[in-house]
Amino acid sequence: MMINLITAVKAIQAGDVVAIPTETVYGLAADAFNLTAVEKTFELKGRPSDNPLIVHICSSDQLELLADQVPQIAYRLADSFWPGPLTLVLNKLPRVPDVVTGGLKTVAVRMPDHPLALELIKQTGPLTAPSGNKSGKPSPTKASHLIDDYGGKLPILDGGTCTIGLESTVLDLTQKTPKILRPGAIDAADIFQKTGIQVDEHATKPHDQIKSPGTRYSHYKPNAKVEWIETIPASFNSDCYYILHSTTPTVSGPNIIHYHGNFEKLAQNLYDHFRTADHHSYQNIRIEILPSSQNSYLIDALFDRISKAIG
Ligand code: TXA
Ligand code: MG
Repeated sequence: MMINLITAVKAIQAGDVVAIPTETVYGLAADAFNLTAVEKTFELKGRPSDNPLIVHICSSDQLELLADQVPQIAYRLADSFWPGPLTLVLNKLPRVPDVVTGGLKTVAVRMPDHPLALELIKQTGPLTAPSGNKSGKPSPTKASHLIDDYGGKLPILDGGTCTIGLESTVLDLTQKTPKILRPGAIDAADIFQKTGIQVDEHATKPHDQIKSPGTRYSHYKPNAKVEWIETIPASFNSDCYYILHSTTPTVSGPNIIHYHGNFEKLAQNLYDHFRTADHHSYQNIRIEILPSSQNSYLIDALFDRISKAIG
């Protein structure tokens, strides 16, 4: 059910869960200090209780409501990247409920770059918001995805299609050297360039992609089997959905999608493609192997999500 901002504020204050837009993906928002509301989020998503949630804020000052002895670099990063797709992991204050952090002593915080989300948080205070998908499935990037997943009952604040389409970069600031735990639209090079702060990169890189698809993850998975392809095939299978990015000219069709090197657009649409392929019951989703991440924006994040969808 689509609701407006005023109704969303009331719903959050009444302890309900509301789907909200962000620049990355839609989230399932609840009052971060309302235990019952946060528990409802876990239930709705079918999420394991030890997988912690990100708390969303609308100004850097609100870090002090959540984190203990906020380090100076957190403010430097916030100044450079907030509002935006960067989540900071910090030591939590005791007042942050354990259910939010899955029992961890740390809390993940970010300021989303979406006017509706920011206005909502201004009126409600900090909100937990995991990605709005059912646990293990692709994240929602438009309001219709949430209706597909939850039916008409879930209150949704419709803010249009998410501009980035992949979840935020998660940066752990509780270690000696900050470390990227989940790659996103902001990478180590961006962080260094804008702040001079050196961070450890996320471990798995695109050159490993064929070697180690990995079996330990269960995230972002459509029903169709996702696979890498090394080259563009000479002929296309009608029961496969192809996502191609190189500029080699080939035929196109409803199941043969070309990006011509536009990885930004590919990222924005990736989960929508996964959902479309399932909607039309394609057996396989075949994705052209990604180029090296050097100098290519979003490659690490795309590689991470796609390899988890494969694994
Ligand atoms: O872009 C995003 O971050 C979206 C939008 C809605 O803001 N949210 C999102 O939330 O992706 P979720 O719950 O799907 O992913 C949160 C990630 C998980 O990988 C979780 O393990 C990690 O952040 N995380 C949360 N709290 C953490 C903590 N205290 N320490 C380490 N990782 C944490
Ligand atoms: Mg998620």
